[in-house]
Amino acid sequence: MKILLLGAGGFIGSHLVEHLLERGEHEIVGVDITAEKLEGISGSAFTFHELDIHEVPDDLVRESDVVVDLIAYANPSIYVEAPLSVYQLNFEANMRIVHHCVNHGKRLIQYSTSEVYGKAGNNTALYREDESDLVMGPVSKQRWIYAAAKQLLERVIHAYSLQGDLEFTIIRPFNFIGPRIDYLVPAGTMGGPRVFAHFMSALLEGGPMHLVDGGHVHRTFLSIYDANEAFQTVLDRPEARNEIYNFGNPSNDTTIRELSTLMTDIYTRLAGDPPRSEVVEVSGETFYGAGYEDMDRVPPDISKLVALGWEPQHDLAKTLELTIGYYLEQAREAATSA
Ligand code: UGA
Repeated sequence: MKILLLGAGGFIGSHLVEHLLERGEHEIVGVDITAEKLEGISGSAFTFHELDIHEVPDDLVRESDVVVDLIAYANPSIYVEAPLSVYQLNFEANMRIVHHCVNHGKRLIQYSTSEVYGKAGNNTALYREDESDLVMGPVSKQRWIYAAAKQLLERVIHAYSLQGDLEFTIIRPFNFIGPRIDYLVPAGTMGGPRVFAHFMSALLEGGPMHLVDGGHVHRTFLSIYDANEAFQTVLDRPEARNEIYNFGNPSNDTTIRELSTLMTDIYTRLAGDPPRSEVVEVSGETFYGAGYEDMDRVPPDISKLVALGWEPQHDLAKTLELTIGYYLEQAREAATSA
């Protein structure tokens, strides 16, 4: 098959390219505005186009068998700072791709988000793809424009498929962690990337590790390597057509405070020395700006995907060890070449 991978240069995309090239089964056409994270990843079955999503020509879709769409703003700081841009990219620009797929009868694998489940409230159950309610905060908390745009995208894709005009699979990622996640920032920066990148910067530089609103909320983290295998499962299995899947690992549930401790312990073991970083509490409003609201917990039910034969293989410690190890290696290489 020829797979068109939109967002091939991002964290998830670059790992999918690497994974698919290793399997050697398909031709991959990648599109992104940057190829930075693809450095060192190449193969005769891979071609890359440096393009904005708005510039993706209809022909690229027509010539492919499957379109995988990963393009989106996905850092909460952007939802607060530039909510309109989030809607324009995550809904409007992605809709253009949906229309190309409808016009050419192509299967679309759309990456959405765990955030469509919204706020847990009193709900203590695991989130199920086809049963759980999706609960957003008020419009005045603009963070929710991201979840709302992704939810509407899912609903439109689903509506096309009900009409028999589109074959799709929707993937809801739950906090993937792995090498090349986001980007590192100077320790102490507010907003910006997601939590792993912030904590990693703090550990490497010995700066403050910010715990937003006490770090009491829960997340369930999934190793990027388990996420690759989950993708392979939905790509291969015919049962995954016109279905939605949670990609997560409920066994890796942790509070953000516990995550800071675990990352510090693993860093200390791998680096051989304790970091000089220290935990500093900060409010969500100070860290992200007015209009931020958090989710207390985001726990996936993964039985639907497990029924297709996939199972996560990396616990949280292993996931963090592999990723912290990667960044330590990068830092060592940078130090020796400096
Ligand atoms: C983000 C995206 O919005 C989701 O679409 C995406 O599915 C998810 O990441 C993901 O990675 O899959 P969120 O879980 O809120 O959502 O991402 P983070 O920015 O990593 O925040 C996690 C928690 O850590 C939040 O409570 C945040 O306030 C906190 N945090 C973040 C800190 O305590 N310190 C920091 O330095 C950064």
